[in-house]
Amino acid sequence: MSRPRVLEAMAALQERARILRAARTLDLFAADADRFAKFSVALDDFLFDFSKHRIDGETLRLLVALARAADLEGARAALFSGAPINLTEGRAAAHWALRDLSDRPLIVGGENMRGAIEAEREKVYAFARALRSGELRGAGGAPFTDIVNIGIGGSDLGPAMAVRALSPFAKGPRAHFVSNVDGADMADTLAGLDPARTLFVVSSKTFTTQETMANAALARAFIVEKLGEAAVAAHFAAVSTRLDKVAEFGVDPSHVFGFWDWVGGRYSIWSAISLSLVIAIGPENFTEFLRGGSDMDAHFRSAPLEHNIPALMGLIGVFHRDVEGRAAQAIIPYDQRLARFPAYLQQLDMESNGKSVTRDGGVAEFATGPIVFGEPGTNGQHAFFQLLHQGTDVTPIDFLIAAEPIDADAHHHALLFANCLAQSEAFMRGRTLAEAKAQLAAAGLDAARVEALAPHKVFTGDRPSSVLLYSKLDPRTLGRLVALYEHKVFVQSAIWDINPFDQWGVELGKELANRLAPIVENKNAPLDGLDGSTAGLIRRRRESGG
Ligand code: F6P
Repeated sequence: MSRPRVLEAMAALQERARILRAARTLDLFAADADRFAKFSVALDDFLFDFSKHRIDGETLRLLVALARAADLEGARAALFSGAPINLTEGRAAAHWALRDLSDRPLIVGGENMRGAIEAEREKVYAFARALRSGELRGAGGAPFTDIVNIGIGGSDLGPAMAVRALSPFAKGPRAHFVSNVDGADMADTLAGLDPARTLFVVSSKTFTTQETMANAALARAFIVEKLGEAAVAAHFAAVSTRLDKVAEFGVDPSHVFGFWDWVGGRYSIWSAISLSLVIAIGPENFTEFLRGGSDMDAHFRSAPLEHNIPALMGLIGVFHRDVEGRAAQAIIPYDQRLARFPAYLQQLDMESNGKSVTRDGGVAEFATGPIVFGEPGTNGQHAFFQLLHQGTDVTPIDFLIAAEPIDADAHHHALLFANCLAQSEAFMRGRTLAEAKAQLAAAGLDAARVEALAPHKVFTGDRPSSVLLYSKLDPRTLGRLVALYEHKVFVQSAIWDINPFDQWGVELGKELANRLAPIVENKNAPLDGLDGSTAGLIRRRRESGG
């Protein structure tokens, strides 16, 4: 479907960006003493500062016009209506319903799901409470000290990220996460654990995922070997939408928790998939996490686009991707406990918006989702920031930082905060050739050395970054952050006219892996029909004794 108004709005943005390229971002600050106030939006203690992008008021107006041309508001209403907007899978995308703590009806696919959602959440909470209090014990009567979540992708990354992010709130049993089909993942995790005090949670929306099923079988064999077959019921729990398949695996029905097909895997952190997180931080903290998500929903649904954090964040991302041609997006939390947040966002963003086909099956009109990557600061500074500062590609960055630490000392936090702001400033400010020369001359270098070294010390500057500043990394803030990025990704999908809720791109590799597995496993299996590289590599493995 061609969208002439969207194309027109994008062309107007191109033209505005062309004009602004004549200015430095610093000049925009010099020309407007209120720039920070105008180019930042607060939601209570949560602040989104987007003043260091080379955009002006007119760019913002044009971005909002682009959103209207693409009917972002219509798309947003459809999302929250519970209609089946995931067209290729014929489902709603109603993860937001899981975090709605009000008492209004939650209509998904025409049905009020509030009762079912609350009942399932209560079941998860009751199980977590019983386990944390020691009421629920292992087969031999020992209380559980360790939980191992077995899942991958959305059935792993969310709870794994959040358990780490909220470690100061984790007073329950230790949570571990095994995802990879590489047996080393399970072996390394089991190495330190006492089977009599360990509960395995098999988490899989479909309960068919190769990695998870293989790891669940391994864990089962471990319990049978150490504690006997009769102990399996007490040492396993499961979370899935496919309760029929869970029953086949043989988990005690009182240890089984469900959710619904209208919750996408990468959006399932709000569901029973977070059982291990709830066990670690407790139901009250998890409710605060839900509350944070619901704060962001309320803001996204009601704030005008000009002051709407997810809308602005998404639109600025579209500006960089489609107007400035930036291929990547860096996520740099200056918050060590958010170490897994970039990996979490990789799935959320790249599995959602890594598409080349529009909703109606046409070819995407614009470049879609960027490559998302990141690591915590300050560590990243000493690794890949060189390329971000002086490489030939410009990469927009999101910096995330708390105004106050939860338990670090004030001096460390001051250093952390200073580093975060210094990087954001350096990316914008840069250093000219004249400045580089002056600095070298002031350091006493002779003229020839100044000439030789100065070009290496130039920073182009005008490298864009946003700062997300929050009071402290508590459950409610984390909920806001996760929901913010979910909605940012959604906003971009609406501009690009793609379905962010399917993931057909993961299918082909899965199919081929299932076809190859028996050929790899059986050394005598014929290699006919395989391409030369695949056959050659399998032959080589066989020769090596593998
Ligand atoms: O391979 C991609 C994917 O389908 C993700 O979308 C999903 O989060 C992950 O696999 C795990 O799937 P499941 O929860 O069904 O095991």
